[in-house]
Amino acid sequence: DGYLWFEGLPFPSIDYSYEGLKEACTKFVIKDEDTVMVSYPKSGTHWLIEILCLIHSKGDTTWIRSVSIWDRAPWLEIDTGYKLLKEREGPRFLTSHLPFHLFPKSFFTSKAKVIYIMRNPKDVLVSGYYYWTTTKFSKKPESLEQYFQWFLQGYVPYGSWFEHIRGWMSMRDRENVLLLSYEELQKDPRSTIEEICQFLGKKLNPEELDSVLKNSSFHVMKENKMSNLETLPETYVDKDFKITRKGICGDWKNHLTVAQAEALDKLYQEKMLGFPKELFPWE
Ligand code: A3P
Repeated sequence: DGYLWFEGLPFPSIDYSYEGLKEACTKFVIKDEDTVMVSYPKSGTHWLIEILCLIHSKGDTTWIRSVSIWDRAPWLEIDTGYKLLKEREGPRFLTSHLPFHLFPKSFFTSKAKVIYIMRNPKDVLVSGYYYWTTTKFSKKPESLEQYFQWFLQGYVPYGSWFEHIRGWMSMRDRENVLLLSYEELQKDPRSTIEEICQFLGKKLNPEELDSVLKNSSFHVMKENKMSNLETLPETYVDKDFKITRKGICGDWKNHLTVAQAEALDKLYQEKMLGFPKELFPWE
């Protein structure tokens, strides 16, 4: 059906393999010095990676301008990323969209740090619709209404948004896990970046912090060929593909009908029962 199925969940079919997923989930050894960026797709993953890389280089832009984003923080569950990570020595940056229950168990006995970024599911849905419509490595939706139905059913890459959030939320009190949101990064990027620095035990002076802020901004990232995925070949993406599409909160209001928003709200109430509202920055 255009997906690769693993453990009952749909995954993109190109660059992912059943064996690769199985090995990543069950055999990968996370080390104490690793930093892992985790998210449900379209929640601001690339933005977070850019920020982490800039913090690491203390605001210097050489690394983010010379090495592609997926080489800097390879995706654990993608075959090419896994290969890079296995060969990498020293502290590593890793990225993953894996749901909590599939994440390598070696993490639980390690001191590795995980930063989980979440985003309003309505914006995740709209962003995902544009993304999967313009990429060739997964199932393409034919309309927003069709994608909307798929999203509610969890018939989208990495499965249900609700299950993803619920799973990772269970780790929220761990010392080595930081929960962030796209919304708080938008509202107050400076404080959020400072919070990340504190979590990572990094100290930046005000000029370095300014540079992290400036160089991870939407407009600068959009122009950085090493971060905007412009270098992806035509076999992967269509001409109108953009990872840095709009970069705002609330774009769902321009796309979802009242009935769609209500249906999503209803499912949200059911699925997120028991989770205090204060945990999430959206209404
Ligand atoms: P939109 O499609 O709503 O514009 P991910 O990296 O998880 O795939 O998420 C992609 C989303 O993050 C896209 O959302 C993209 O525009 C947004 N994004 C990427 N870089 C950003 C930045 N520097 N600032 C704000 N949003 C950014």
